Amino acid sequence: MDIKHIVSQLTLEEKASLCSGADDWHTEKIDRLGIPNIMMSDGPHGLRKVVDVDENEIWKGATVKATCYPSGAGLASSWNRELIYGVGKALGKEAKGEKLSILLGPAINIKRSPVCGRNFEYYSEDPFLAGKLAASFINGVQSEGVGTSLKHFAVNNHEYRRHSTNPIVDMRTLREIYLTAFEIAVKESNPATIMHSYNRINGCQVSKSKWLLDGVLRDEWGYEGIVISDWGGMNDRVASLDAGCDIEMPSSGGVRDDMIVKAVKEGRLDERILDKTVERILKTVYKYLPENNAPKADLEKNCGYAAFVAEETMVLLKNEKNLLPLDGERPLAVIGEFGSNIRFQGRGSSRVNAAYVEHPLKYIKRFNKAEVCYAPGYELSGDVNTPNEALINEAVACAKKCGRALVFIGLPDEFESESYDRADMRLPDSHNELVRRIAEEVPDTVVVLTCGSPVEMPWLDRVSTLFLTYLGGSGAGLALAGLLYGAVSPSGKLAETFPVKIEDNPAYLNYPGIYDDVVYAEGVFVGYRYYQKKKMKVNFPFGFGLSYTKFSYDEIVADGDRVKVKVTNVGKIAGKEVVQLYVCPPKSAVVRPDRELKGFTKIFLAPGESKWVEFTLDDRSFAYYDVRVNDWRVETGDYTVFVGGSSVDTPLSVVIKKQDKNPYVPEITDNTPLIDIINNPGYDGIRDEFLLGFFKPEMRIEAEKKGIHVSNQTVFPRKYQTPRMYVRGGKDTVTEDDIAESVKQFNNKLKNK
Ligand code: GLC
Repeated sequence: MDIKHIVSQLTLEEKASLCSGADDWHTEKIDRLGIPNIMMSDGPHGLRKVVDVDENEIWKGATVKATCYPSGAGLASSWNRELIYGVGKALGKEAKGEKLSILLGPAINIKRSPVCGRNFEYYSEDPFLAGKLAASFINGVQSEGVGTSLKHFAVNNHEYRRHSTNPIVDMRTLREIYLTAFEIAVKESNPATIMHSYNRINGCQVSKSKWLLDGVLRDEWGYEGIVISDWGGMNDRVASLDAGCDIEMPSSGGVRDDMIVKAVKEGRLDERILDKTVERILKTVYKYLPENNAPKADLEKNCGYAAFVAEETMVLLKNEKNLLPLDGERPLAVIGEFGSNIRFQGRGSSRVNAAYVEHPLKYIKRFNKAEVCYAPGYELSGDVNTPNEALINEAVACAKKCGRALVFIGLPDEFESESYDRADMRLPDSHNELVRRIAEEVPDTVVVLTCGSPVEMPWLDRVSTLFLTYLGGSGAGLALAGLLYGAVSPSGKLAETFPVKIEDNPAYLNYPGIYDDVVYAEGVFVGYRYYQKKKMKVNFPFGFGLSYTKFSYDEIVADGDRVKVKVTNVGKIAGKEVVQLYVCPPKSAVVRPDRELKGFTKIFLAPGESKWVEFTLDDRSFAYYDVRVNDWRVETGDYTVFVGGSSVDTPLSVVIKKQDKNPYVPEITDNTPLIDIINNPGYDGIRDEFLLGFFKPEMRIEAEKKGIHVSNQTVFPRKYQTPRMYVRGGKDTVTEDDIAESVKQFNNKLKNK
């Protein structure tokens, strides 16, 4: 397809029309030249293909029956690249069957605050994990010839005032935390499209941030796909096109296309930029044209696959009395409406019209040979918050009669959604009270928690057993029953920290911000990076999750940047383990997290089986972003590599020495602190003469007399002073020109070193 030739045949008006949608979901077509359109649809864990738009109600409108997979928070808890690739592939097939060309996902914004309404949809608080898993998802979908839309680029970490919010983020934090997941995904999967976010960053609307779209995304990361706006997220169409945003979605009915035409005619927009944009758009359209005879997916079969996936997304958080796996020989009380009607997805644009949904009670009854009693315990409509005494009493009686209970609690649908944030991290009072009362009466209580993001757990010390389902998709109930009865051993690990209370979260004091401005004052200390640096207690740490078996971490070997680890299943049943690798930097010129995730892999081990797991690290595994040179820097020193089954349980470690390959040796000025001149090895050989010009011999004699050996490496009492402070009159006059001359000579010697 000679795209350039096609572009050369287009009129200016036709080119401009291609830069916005034809409607809510389609790109524009040009019948005159036979240019087709393609259809895009949500979402990140199931198709939301709108087939009958209800103009009066956003999110409504009939959508096709589809398979709902675990939402992003759950998918990420699998830590399983291959599994997520498989989900992508299955969604790609389903999309193909519906003639969809672009699936609007994955959504990978970093979980800065636990109360962000869309955290259920997002992957993690850690950019490495989010980026790697997003790449797997994208490669899976695109392996079926269906494109994706990596979103929301970037720094869209809360729903509060989302269309006008202005995160204020320092460059190091931006690079290390909020851009890295997108960078990894772009470089490892080349998504067909990237959806830019609604917000500003440091005062600049993302939709017209040339630095971010053309600069970072395209020039630095080599991205070759197209950038689409979030729906209704377009700002200043001409500046946005110039900045690198290709398609405004949805259509603005030609209003903004006309702005493009006018700008070109008036010489405010170079038509060559428009041509390049149209080329990118047409390349994407022709690359992802739908297959005409693609078969519709078998939704019933896919529901079974969704259950298989969900098994790895649920996380066993407590099992102190080994109540799990349950035996089916004893009566069991199933308490809580989520047990009969599990919440399996979140609200908003990711909403799926699920063709099938498997609820827990049906399958618990199959696994449990003895009697199963059920009591709703609370209401999921009307006043969901106020404890209902009658329902609680009924539930307590049911639990006492059976002698053991599964208590299903969680966040009702309206508690977490796109377009608004949670007010706090609380569960409904009715759910907290139910757990308290049941656990008080029935020691063998297992709590099953269904939510898309962390919650406070006032009853946690009273409960020995806790299972987190997240939002498990169509197959949630079947997957959960299999896990509870040991058909499969849990292998999920948290991809986000569960703090004790919202006030502990590093964003708390700067959330949701002042009017539109939200200062990301915590910097890189997001999630576990913060809690570990502060040595703060959390309910459940990043990377944590229990199994029905046990794994031992036996050996670690490092060979250059390659690290090998031997892991053994020392338990009696088979299981999967997520082997996690964290890097701890040496004492640094900047404040750095104590450890950061730089490797993970999930392995299956039969009882008694051992496997060696290999990680290949690279410079970025050791680097921080140095804003002095706007580039990544690996400082010289000893890096400790920790490996284990969670961010707080890393029994193996090894030291890897690194050398700064590009040391920072700037020219000095009359305001360079002497400590910087003393400490920087790049000044070796020219330092002494310069310093002694200031530290007159008598000062050295004076110090020596006091028995203080003054060497250039010894920290001078004047370490923070600067050359300009040595201007003085009298016997040994030193003028500002003298200082300037000394500095100039020093820099000349540096240049000639
Ligand atoms: C939204 C969402 C985005 C979604 C789009 C289309 O407002 O932010 O994630 O893909 O609209 O529904």
